Amino acid sequence: MKTRVIQVDREKPDAAAIEEAAAALRDGKLVVFPTETVYGLGAHALDPIAVQKIFDAKERPANDPLIVHIAHIGQVNQCAVGMPAGARKLALSFWAGPLTIVLQKKPEVPDLVTAGLPSVALRVPSHRVARALMEMAGVPIAAPSANRFSRPSPTTAAHVIDDLDGRVDLILDAGPTDIGLESTIVDFTQDPPLLRRPGGITFEQVHSLVPEVVVQMEKGGADEPQAAPGQMSRHYAPKAELTLYEGPAEAVRTRIAADVRTATAAGDRVGILAPEEDLSALAPELAARASSGRVETVPYGSRSDLERSARELYASIRALDATGVARIFAVGVGAEGLARAIHDRLSRAADGRIKAVTGGKP
Ligand code: TXA
Ligand code: MG
Repeated sequence: MKTRVIQVDREKPDAAAIEEAAAALRDGKLVVFPTETVYGLGAHALDPIAVQKIFDAKERPANDPLIVHIAHIGQVNQCAVGMPAGARKLALSFWAGPLTIVLQKKPEVPDLVTAGLPSVALRVPSHRVARALMEMAGVPIAAPSANRFSRPSPTTAAHVIDDLDGRVDLILDAGPTDIGLESTIVDFTQDPPLLRRPGGITFEQVHSLVPEVVVQMEKGGADEPQAAPGQMSRHYAPKAELTLYEGPAEAVRTRIAADVRTATAAGDRVGILAPEEDLSALAPELAARASSGRVETVPYGSRSDLERSARELYASIRALDATGVARIFAVGVGAEGLARAIHDRLSRAADGRIKAVTGGKP
């Protein structure tokens, strides 16, 4: 299949491009589109043949359910039975936006979409291009992130092309996405409701409207039946082996500098993924080693601007991975507010390799 890329204006998308993409979706084709979080790989959610193509293109296991995107809250009842009061509150406050709500599904939603679960995940994206597309298509759109399975989610069309060229019909390219991490998922089929995935809407924001919400992100292996589908730990994985360092900034830097010395002495090529302040502080230590081509560094945002850190995280992981380093040392930025989502993605990429460093100044 030949993949076509159409550039669209992110504020005022060209109507002809949107019409073409909407027609392709109604026809059962695969269309990649930007959302405010990451790029999505869309198909007509009520057409099982179209939905199957998503799993094939991504090489995604069938036990990982998809998020269904709708144009507005009025479309919820096309896919779900009822909406608990807490879910309605969240939807009214945070839709359109980076929030996904899990509800009891209607029989019209194919089992393929929900991996056989009796529930369905719904989201109203706020990106102008996504909204125009949902409205024009007139049908719910199933869309996971538009990456190959276990690669970091794409925040630019170039990332999508790297992973899916020749596997999708159309890509709408509207430039880099704003938030950079996937939506927050809250599951209202459980009592109390569960935060299944932290994202652009923080736990604290959800908690302020739904005080009974409980954090529960299970991690299962790829082969196990999934209690919390999709939340397998090896997700967002770079090719390099990533280790996440947590703790007071200065202590973490000292530890990383020592580990870099050991690794480079052993002949390993290593990369450092860190906020720009940490890379600046490490610069003198690294200068000698970088010139020998053994240490690559890529910043992800700044400790004083975690929104930028979130926005840049996946692109930075991809960039570092593309240098061919064998190992990545990643500096964490805490675990509250937006940092909770950053921490979640980094710890999944680390697949258990987490070093808690103590001591030093905070
Ligand atoms: O920001 C986003 O949510 C992006 C954009 C494209 O909208 N989409 C996205 O989709 O991240 P994906 O497929 O990468 O993540 C879907 C995840 C599943 O892995 C699973 O964790 C959760 O959503 N999910 C879907 N349906 C569910 C259900 N019925 N119950 C519990 N979790 C569900
Ligand atoms: Mg994904």
